[in-house]
Amino acid sequence: SSALRLPQRLAGMTLPALFCLSLPALAVQTINVGHTLSDNSHYSAGVDAFKAKLEELSTGEFVVEEHTSGSLGGERAMIEGLQIGTIDAVITSTGPLGNFVPQSYVLDLPFLFDDYDHARCVLDSEIGQELLDKVGEHDLVGLAWSENGFRHMTNNVRDIKTPQDDAGLKIRTMENEVHMAAFKAMGAHPTPMAFPELFTALQQGTVDGQENPISVILTSNLWEVQDHLSLTGHVYSPAIMLGSPILWDGLNDEQKGWFIEAARAGAEATREMVSRLETEGVDELESKGMSVVRDIDKAPFREAVQPAYKIYTDEYGSEWLDRIRGSE
Ligand code: PAF
Repeated sequence: SSALRLPQRLAGMTLPALFCLSLPALAVQTINVGHTLSDNSHYSAGVDAFKAKLEELSTGEFVVEEHTSGSLGGERAMIEGLQIGTIDAVITSTGPLGNFVPQSYVLDLPFLFDDYDHARCVLDSEIGQELLDKVGEHDLVGLAWSENGFRHMTNNVRDIKTPQDDAGLKIRTMENEVHMAAFKAMGAHPTPMAFPELFTALQQGTVDGQENPISVILTSNLWEVQDHLSLTGHVYSPAIMLGSPILWDGLNDEQKGWFIEAARAGAEATREMVSRLETEGVDELESKGMSVVRDIDKAPFREAVQPAYKIYTDEYGSEWLDRIRGSE
């Protein structure tokens, strides 16, 4: 059958049969994977591992091409690209995902997860799988949870040690209503913006600051345009590898299994790099000239962002929040 792969089709054939056979050229399908970070980032490490695994499992039937640095658009635009089939797969933070899959907003609540182990454990649990399945109800395919990391604040005005230090600062946030509510509650002026526009906005002073994991601040060179870094770790930022439903519908079950296995391998490589940079990266940013506030009393920040919880539960209920809290 044409569904059999080349080695299986050749096995067992006599030599003359092999010579008479005119084999149809094996179709190689290129899988275009996009993300907004640079080619030395944790997302890129994830794509490398995804590529290696998918090409190995499919013995070259699929070839992965990586598109870095937002060359296919910001995260929100890329998710739309998946829905109409102009992109095959994307690694994105959950930042804009709630606009498509409201259930995912729960993961963006500040101070929901205590540490990396806690966040990874929940995402790898049944809850994580159910949320991935929810993604599948919105014209997208949730291949695997990946990771962006705990977000920390940077700005060009002052060291942030308390939530009051945020007052009056124009802070770029992701296009995420939960994050915007949290920054508003701290007295900042949240300015939602797609990531590819951020570097210039910081450089030109359109915004004073932003917040992102160490791995992003380092590999997207935000340290070049930001002076102060505070290790607020105010929210865990999950990432997800999403596939296009148009790609997915053309795959058989075995092929779908390869994609999921490859996406999980990618997520593991990404998590490894996030963990490494979370410690090494802070020293590096300091050596590049950033003023770093390491010891932050998180209690007042946790208190200050409570309005974000109310806004979230008023709109989406508390089912997912209770489940995550109950899983501790
Ligand atoms: O700040 C963001 O938009 C995201 O954290 C980023 C940098 C695009 C990575 O997903």
